[in-house]
Amino acid sequence: MLDTVFAPATLPGQGALALLLIQGQPHPPVFTDADKACGGALTRAIAAAAFTGKKGQTCVVLGATDAHPRVVLVGLGPNPNARAYEEAGAAAALVLHKDPVATLIPSGTDTDAAHAALGAALRSYRFDRYRTKEKAEDKPSLTTLTIATQNPDAARTAYAPLIAARDGVFLARDLASEPPNVLYPAELADRCRALEAVGVTVEILDEAALAELGFGAILAVAQGSAHGARVVVMQWQGAEGPPVALIGKGVTFDTGGISIKPAPNMEDMKWDMAGAAAIIGTMHTLAARKARVHAVGIVGLVENMPSGTAMRPGDVIRSLSGQTIEVQNTDAEGRLVLADLLWYAQDRFAPRISIDLATLTGAIIVALGHHHAGLFSNDDPLATQLLAAGTASGEALWRMPLGEAYDKLIRSDIADMKNIGGRPGGATIGAQFVQRFVRGPWAHLDIAGMAWATKDSALAPKGATAFGVRLLDQLIAANYE
Ligand code: BES
Ligand code: MN
Ligand code: ZN
Repeated sequence: MLDTVFAPATLPGQGALALLLIQGQPHPPVFTDADKACGGALTRAIAAAAFTGKKGQTCVVLGATDAHPRVVLVGLGPNPNARAYEEAGAAAALVLHKDPVATLIPSGTDTDAAHAALGAALRSYRFDRYRTKEKAEDKPSLTTLTIATQNPDAARTAYAPLIAARDGVFLARDLASEPPNVLYPAELADRCRALEAVGVTVEILDEAALAELGFGAILAVAQGSAHGARVVVMQWQGAEGPPVALIGKGVTFDTGGISIKPAPNMEDMKWDMAGAAAIIGTMHTLAARKARVHAVGIVGLVENMPSGTAMRPGDVIRSLSGQTIEVQNTDAEGRLVLADLLWYAQDRFAPRISIDLATLTGAIIVALGHHHAGLFSNDDPLATQLLAAGTASGEALWRMPLGEAYDKLIRSDIADMKNIGGRPGGATIGAQFVQRFVRGPWAHLDIAGMAWATKDSALAPKGATAFGVRLLDQLIAANYE
């Protein structure tokens, strides 16, 4: 992990440099100092590269002087916000990752410096637990990035809640990246225990407890697997009163069950627990920054396998709510998990709001691609808050419809409902199924298209994104504290 430390805003005597520059503004004094130290090479490079400071633009100046063998200029665009500093810090970290010593000079406020540090850290994330043969020269060598800012103490104060966000994101990325032979339900439940260190109460319901309580839908999904189901209840009590309930789908591997998936890309289904990972990461963040909120995180952990004990298409199961479900496709398992979790959350905690995160449908990827998660809600104020949090956090949502016409599609001839309703409108049908287990204000985020990236992005290498952690943290900070 890349460490970040804050130091006073003077030009260091040596080492690689990153200077963040605002488009259309005179360069800060520290730029002039750096340019002098480089014998005017920065000014010449700016002219030669037609560097304007446009957002995302970088200009690397190599070998200008022995003291600063690598200098990178990064554009912030005009009027940069926190996000712009994060992205510029990330771009700088990418260029400097092989330098032994490097200093980032954001030349904004101390808060801007904190966001630049966060961006640098987020972009430098790596999951290398299972690499044993990586050559030293292929690994990043920069271990600590110094961030130069007016008042380092003020920057450290601004950075404290951002460290909580960083660590929540890293936790969620780690969990979603783990292979499914390592991370099965009981193991994922054990990993939740680590949150006790930051003051979260963690309660694990095992198979016996789930059977006793009547979690019929979750147990039906799990019954084909050698690994038993778990439900984990995490509580952060940073305030009194009814909690915000955060629910996560945690299918540690989704083969489809008897309605088995095709072989190509089935390995992707290791991250079918990304909703749960995001909830676990969010709980870490809220507790680590001591958020003044009462939040309950509940994740349903199962493995969906075909076997002689697996549920069959045609089975009728009884959910925790008492409602019966005809399972017509065992691959529509996520909604079964959410059904019991939402019911349990509402029954036990009478929450102010409930939000579930789930990699629920391929259909949401067809609808929205990899740019927005689908937002389904029975409550307009909550939907508005979530859309705003999406914009502010950079984890974008797009509202999708719900309605009676879709609900009709999951009527069953034999039970209270069936778990599929045809391909057209598939993401809404999934949401409509979940809504049958909802009482009170609720939002469902279908994150199937957002949980994993096949390309690097501004703030993350390709792989697990932790989508939802910064969104929910932002939602709570803006509306529930
Ligand atoms: N986990 C999948 C959805 C998914 C697909 C997530 C691709 C991430 C990437 C989910 O359990 C599933 O299999 N959904 C089915 C539902 C269908 C049977 C109604 C789907 O989308 O095909
Ligand atoms: Mn499935
Ligand atoms: Zn699934």
